[in-house]
Amino acid sequence: MREDRMSLRMKILGVGCAVLAAAVASFMLVLSYDSACAAPASPPVGTTLMKAITHPCYGSHEILGFEDVAIPTPADDEVLVRVRAVSINPLDWHYMQGTPYVVRLSSGLGAPSSRRLGVDFAGTVEAVGSNVVDVRPGDEVFGGRNGALAEYLTVRADRVVELKPANVTFEEAAAVTVAATTALQALRDAGNLKAGQRVLINGASGGVGTFAVQIAKAHGAHVTGVSSTRNLELVRSLGADRVIDYTAEDFTADSERWDLIIDNVGNHPLRAYRRVLSPEGVVVMVGGPKDGLWLGPLTRVARAAVYSRFVPQTFAPFLSELNREDLIVLRDLMASGVVRSVIDRRFTLPETPAAIEYLERGRTRGKNVIMVGTNP
Ligand SMILES: NC(=O)c1ccc[n+]([C@@H]2O[C@H](COP(=O)([O-])OP(=O)(O)OC[C@H]3O[C@@H](n4cnc5c(N)ncnc54)[C@H](OP(=O)(O)O)[C@@H]3O)[C@@H](O)[C@H]2O)c1
Repeated sequence: MREDRMSLRMKILGVGCAVLAAAVASFMLVLSYDSACAAPASPPVGTTLMKAITHPCYGSHEILGFEDVAIPTPADDEVLVRVRAVSINPLDWHYMQGTPYVVRLSSGLGAPSSRRLGVDFAGTVEAVGSNVVDVRPGDEVFGGRNGALAEYLTVRADRVVELKPANVTFEEAAAVTVAATTALQALRDAGNLKAGQRVLINGASGGVGTFAVQIAKAHGAHVTGVSSTRNLELVRSLGADRVIDYTAEDFTADSERWDLIIDNVGNHPLRAYRRVLSPEGVVVMVGGPKDGLWLGPLTRVARAAVYSRFVPQTFAPFLSELNREDLIVLRDLMASGVVRSVIDRRFTLPETPAAIEYLERGRTRGKNVIMVGTNP
């Protein structure tokens, strides 16, 4: 009798495991499935058209389209912006590829739920909705909006859009939104940076890193920047007190101790960072290696959450969030000349696939900018 019960339990457990395995396998299949590229939809007859970069399916930069789409009409609380410059970020190629697959839970299963790409923009206000009072046609603005890789976009006037300082070009302003917001929030909010602290920026010469060096200096920190040999001078020129060439030296074997590490690269084991942290030091996990097709940096973040429980130092997971308040902080830092954008390469809108392919190589110095409606 007892043996019968045991064997029944084993059978139920076996069936349960099989069902779970089938569910996980189906979920993985759905998550990694790539639909064929859909043909562009014809815009309604009589609409005024603009050019936009589109991604009709997930894939490499080769799937990007350069399509005619309708110019959007601003709602009562929106502004219509004629885009002059767009800067690209790693998040653009993550969304283009739909990788790591976990991003598809928000970007769409099988194919992107939105065909449009790009976030950071700068441009001129063309028209405003009837409820908009603080922005006028002709104003020069910058900000963030999904689908920015186009000749025009609409954005809510109270969201991520702000007047561009007059002493800053469109390309410099467009370079700021995602990368500088990330640097600011990583240092100030996740890192709780205080004047006099010793900060290390791993990946100091990229989009986030070039802003992080400058913003950390503006907060009164002693800054060490890590980059390859060819970028050491750039990082120093941005204000770094010390630079480390990662091709010659491993900063995790250094004798210095840092209070805060902004990690844009994620290329060392967690225990190695701990070796060079002060007793209550913090690592802000901004970026990670490209490997990990399913979960990407989430696996490392999960490991860090467990690790943090057993050590006095903090490994802080981090996701930046665009908002107008921080855009104002960045606008003032740009206007006063405390922060400047480093522009690596300029492209035209139809050259966006080449720009994204270049960014994906991971060797960008500062930011790459797409000049819209003009020659770079
Ligand atoms: N968590 C968030 O909210 C958030 C927001 C924005 C970005 N991110 C992530 O943060 C990371 C950085 O973004 P990004 O815009 O700065 O990217 P990026 O501009 O493409 O970064 C390129 C830079 O990384 C440097 N680099 C590459 N390998 C390095 C190494 N081993 N050590 C030091 N530097 C190295 C390169 O310098 P060299 O040519 O000198 O090697 C290059 O200048 C990405 O993984 C991105 O996805 C996360």
